[in-house]
Amino acid sequence: MSISALKEKFNSLTLESENHWDYRGNNNSERDYVHGFCTYPAMMVPKMQREMLDVCLEHLQDTSLRLLDPFAGSGTILVEGMLRGLNIVGIDVNPLAILLCKAKTTILNPKTLQEKTSQLFTWITIHDKTPLHQFDGINKWFTKQAISDLSRIRAGIITEETVDYRRFFWASFCEVVRIVSNSRDCTYKLHIKEQKDIDAYAVDAIDLFKSTLQYNISKYNEFYSELRKRGHLKKDGLAYKGQVKIILGDSIAFLNHSKQKYSLVFTSPPYGDNHTTVSYGQYSIMPLRWINYQDIDEAVDDALLATLYEIDNQSLGGKSSNKALTPARKKVVKKSETLKAQLEQINNLASQQSNKIIAFYSDYDRFLDALSRKMKPDAISVWTLGNRKVAKQEIFMNKIMIELCEPYHMQLLTSFTRQILNKRMPKLNGYQGEEKGLQSTMTREHILIFVRSDSDNE
Ligand SMILES: C[S@@+](CC[C@H](N)C(=O)[O-])C[C@H]1O[C@@H](n2cnc3c(N)ncnc32)[C@H](O)[C@@H]1O
Repeated sequence: MSISALKEKFNSLTLESENHWDYRGNNNSERDYVHGFCTYPAMMVPKMQREMLDVCLEHLQDTSLRLLDPFAGSGTILVEGMLRGLNIVGIDVNPLAILLCKAKTTILNPKTLQEKTSQLFTWITIHDKTPLHQFDGINKWFTKQAISDLSRIRAGIITEETVDYRRFFWASFCEVVRIVSNSRDCTYKLHIKEQKDIDAYAVDAIDLFKSTLQYNISKYNEFYSELRKRGHLKKDGLAYKGQVKIILGDSIAFLNHSKQKYSLVFTSPPYGDNHTTVSYGQYSIMPLRWINYQDIDEAVDDALLATLYEIDNQSLGGKSSNKALTPARKKVVKKSETLKAQLEQINNLASQQSNKIIAFYSDYDRFLDALSRKMKPDAISVWTLGNRKVAKQEIFMNKIMIELCEPYHMQLLTSFTRQILNKRMPKLNGYQGEEKGLQSTMTREHILIFVRSDSDNE
């Protein structure tokens, strides 16, 4: 399929039926296979990514290509890549994202998984007096009962000797920690519930863990069977045929040091800095404090988890020194007229907020620079974007992105917009003004498809 045929294919799908990409109707937002392991903010809709991926693969005609997601989150793209037998590379700065990516993409023996799960359940039933886990603030964020139950599950998981299986258990455990914590679920940020709501809450963490883990096992078994059916597992059924690379860290740093080049990139970047959009770090920190983070990745260090905010600081736009802002602004507005005009409008209303936008787009521009250097000629990249709001103004990331990409020889092939019917975002009555602003524009997603237009990259 030529580039023009690829464009034609996307355009015809978009025009085929009104709301083609909205996936209205039954089960269309279903998180099948391992997609539903543990909730993570702003997860992509698997069905949509799957359809777009198939169109791109038909165009590229290369079943052994390397698919990159530089903002991998919960691993939606990576899982879809495995279902197509591709080599996959996922990067994320958040250790919870890496745990989920690894738990979803590691091939386990289904029979052994069920046996080890039965052993774990038995251990938890017998050992009703395990030492209580401790960390700063534990008594604020968890009730006594929750601390006792979670400590028991945690102690049981640690008895499992194989790290791959422990990771599978931790991924189920993380969901339970989040649900039973005293933090409100109407926001991604940590906000303590009212005492009456804490007192009224009566979920049994152990029962919840058992049902969550059993559900995840049934979903994993579906995934495993499908991989096997499609011929993507090695003969013994204990390993994936392709390569799986999951990296904890900053995608700019990774891409700058990597020698690898990519012909296909699928991703959904953050909407802005985490502090004023989606606080992936705050969302993740409570589960992370309960688990043995050495089990996630050797690169997780104490400093990353020391405060409630460090993961968000390390994410795009998280660090902004006042000194660096002026040159950073000059550089990005030179590339994007849209950003320039929007910053001028916001500046008059909210300089603090415009600083956050500059810090984010400055990092984002460095990221695009690093990525474009690692793209093969004619590489295709597919971006799922959301426009946030600042001071009641929608920031048109979908337009800014096109302008920022141009100097990097990434040309827009086509784009379309879809309504989000079931994306997990904070409820409209959330407690954070910024999150409310995010919600009101996040009912739409913009899909942009670019092609690397020349071959003069290093
Ligand atoms: C919109 S989410 C991706 C969601 C994902 N597509 C899914 O389906 O779950 C954006 C992700 O970018 C990550 N991120 C932010 N800054 C980053 C950076 N500098 N390097 C790598 N990942 C980063 C966040 O931790 C977050 O997981």
